Amino acid sequence: MTPRGPLTPLAEMTIVDVWRELAARVSLARAVGPITSWKALRDDLASAHVRVTRRRDVADAIWTEAAAEVGASLTTLAPGFFEIRKDEKATRVIRERVMLNDAVSIEIAEDKRLSRRLIAESGIPVPDWCDFDARDARRGYEFLARQKPPFVVKPATASGGKGITTNVRLPSELRRAVITAARWDSQLMLEQQAEGDVYRLLVLDGEVVDLVRRLRPRLTGDGESTISELLLAENRRRLADPSSFVGLPLDLDCLLTLKAQGLGLRSVPSRGVTFMVRTVTNHNGEMENETVDDSISEELQADAASAAEILGLRLAALDIVTQDHQLGLQESGGVVLEVNPVPALYHHYRVVDRSRATKVAVPILRSLLE
Ligand SMILES: Nc1ncnc2c1ncn2[C@@H]1O[C@H](COP(=O)(O)OP(=O)(O)O)[C@@H](O)[C@H]1O
Ligand SMILES: [Mg+2]
Repeated sequence: MTPRGPLTPLAEMTIVDVWRELAARVSLARAVGPITSWKALRDDLASAHVRVTRRRDVADAIWTEAAAEVGASLTTLAPGFFEIRKDEKATRVIRERVMLNDAVSIEIAEDKRLSRRLIAESGIPVPDWCDFDARDARRGYEFLARQKPPFVVKPATASGGKGITTNVRLPSELRRAVITAARWDSQLMLEQQAEGDVYRLLVLDGEVVDLVRRLRPRLTGDGESTISELLLAENRRRLADPSSFVGLPLDLDCLLTLKAQGLGLRSVPSRGVTFMVRTVTNHNGEMENETVDDSISEELQADAASAAEILGLRLAALDIVTQDHQLGLQESGGVVLEVNPVPALYHHYRVVDRSRATKVAVPILRSLLE
């Protein structure tokens, strides 16, 4: 395997990626200035550099623990590639990817437009949305004029919160959000921003095996630092913390989330005052994730199981937004944002109280070895 250097993430980009990345960076630099923009790029590169090895190490720990729990033996075939055996049965996993879902169902679920349509047609609540091509955003502007803000713009096929901007209200913000999202895909979605908390629901063979509440990333003022300084300091802290995989991107989602609270990068929040720094939850920290171990309603279980079934997935992780996880989505006014067919299992382990974390790899491994 080629050694990874600090510029490896750049080297892995195609010319088109580089061009689109440049467009997104220039658009950001216009809003925040070249120096802050350069620091953000430096943080993003550093974070991308450590993420690969850190995630691999976490997968290693998750499977080693699960194999011990079910009495199986684990062999490392290559870094991040494992074979797990029990009696006559064997399975292989690549980091957190397992052999429960078929390749066709995975590709369908990963296309957010197609999977969204299939889920909506089956009557499961989803946000109102429209899709359009980044090169012709007319449908997007029409949707914006017709519906009540705020909105979210996202690439049709990306993951990990990449290219997503929330709190879009104005046509000028839509234009910038389109440039940001087009870095990842020319096919985009514009949708109504849902109110409530974000939850990750893991479904295995029709049963919900875990529910994690994912709060939006927050920072706390010290009475002296600007928000931009607080954010860069938090990224340095995360870089030094081996259990952290993601930095806080300084991007349009950050700027518009601050704007929605009457803040900007140069604001100096008073000591002890906490504010939201993003609305896209993918970049939150361990302290902002909580295992929900009270019961969830049969209706919500049924919503989750049928979303997985419609997409033909035995293992699925739903991102939902709801104001009450003890009600079904119809009743709470909640929505399914997406159904992940290759769930990142670490979300269930990296929670504020690790002693209460659900060891989701154990039932998954049992199913794999049945
Ligand atoms: N319509 C929406 N309403 C509220 N928050 C949203 C919406 N769409 C996305 N988000 C936020 O952005 C995150 C990422 O969006 P998601 O659709 O799950 O894409 P990804 O595949 O990148 O995770 C969500 O977990 C949520 O925090
Ligand atoms: Mg998601």
